[in-house]
Amino acid sequence: MTGWIIYNGTLNVPKILKLVDSLVEEGKKLNIKLEAVKNAEIIPMYLKNGEAELIYLKKLEEPKFIIFWDKDVLLAKHLEKMGFKVFNSSESIKNCDHKGLMHLVLSNNNISMPRTILSPMIFDYSLNSEDYLVKCYEALGESVIIKESMGSFGMQVYLINNREEFINKVTELNKRNIDFIIQENIKSSFGRDIRVNIIGDKVIGAMLRESEKDFRANISQGGKGRLIDLTVEQELLALKAHKALGLDFSGVDLLFGENNKPILCEVNSNLNFLSFEELWGKSFGRKILEYVLGEVL
Ligand SMILES: Nc1ncnc2c1ncn2[C@@H]1O[C@H](COP(=O)(O)OP(=O)(O)O)[C@@H](O)[C@H]1O
Ligand SMILES: [Mg+2]
Repeated sequence: MTGWIIYNGTLNVPKILKLVDSLVEEGKKLNIKLEAVKNAEIIPMYLKNGEAELIYLKKLEEPKFIIFWDKDVLLAKHLEKMGFKVFNSSESIKNCDHKGLMHLVLSNNNISMPRTILSPMIFDYSLNSEDYLVKCYEALGESVIIKESMGSFGMQVYLINNREEFINKVTELNKRNIDFIIQENIKSSFGRDIRVNIIGDKVIGAMLRESEKDFRANISQGGKGRLIDLTVEQELLALKAHKALGLDFSGVDLLFGENNKPILCEVNSNLNFLSFEELWGKSFGRKILEYVLGEVL
């Protein structure tokens, strides 16, 4: 059986390349010829008759399935239009990749989340309304978290401690024309969160991540992970978010609220599972491939 794993050829993040390689290797063990395909090795095109087609830059066998590890949602949708089965689906990747859209899609589902405000659409790089900003800031409390909508690895998440810092950060993001969300700071979760790894409708395992030096618990920001058993409440919350977003596999981040009540932080469609695998001692990639096989056979 042939499958493709599509990844972004312009993003030279070693962790992602390693993850793609590890999936290809696991594929071999399961007798799957998993071809690593860079997004720019296929060109989506619409023919005169309106049909969705691909121009190939390298010889590729027609896949039975496509694992989509890029975030080029239009390309993923195009492939679905051509009739390919894409994991995760383009819609679920789209909804996860934008933090504002993710909260919007998850809202009204009885999913506990930090109070969150989406950045308004602005033109000319300036909102020019301090009233608006002050209202946002005051609605969320003294210390707030600002997240660029498309960030990852904790790199575009900022802790803001006063009004001046808040106005400065928002102004800077506006000038750079970057979408963001503003959230209440869940202080009880300082430097810790839980990464829940899910495939299909099952939690495969969870990792507590703790950092001694930063409010962000991401491993990339110095957080240390260890395996933990989830409470029923944590498990149900993570699964609910995963299902609401229509994902096949995901990494759900949970925060610790007062009395350790779980609060949803974010959901990752293109999860980095290498740190989890290392602790777990088994192959998460293999589990993904087994799941995909079950879906396409
Ligand atoms: N509202 C919040 N209150 C407190 N800590 C938060 C909040 N949101 C995120 N964090 C911390 O910041 C980290 C990164 O945020 P997250 O939304 O997961 O962004 P990324 O996509 O960059 O991982 C989280 O893992 C968590 O430790
Ligand atoms: Mg995260």
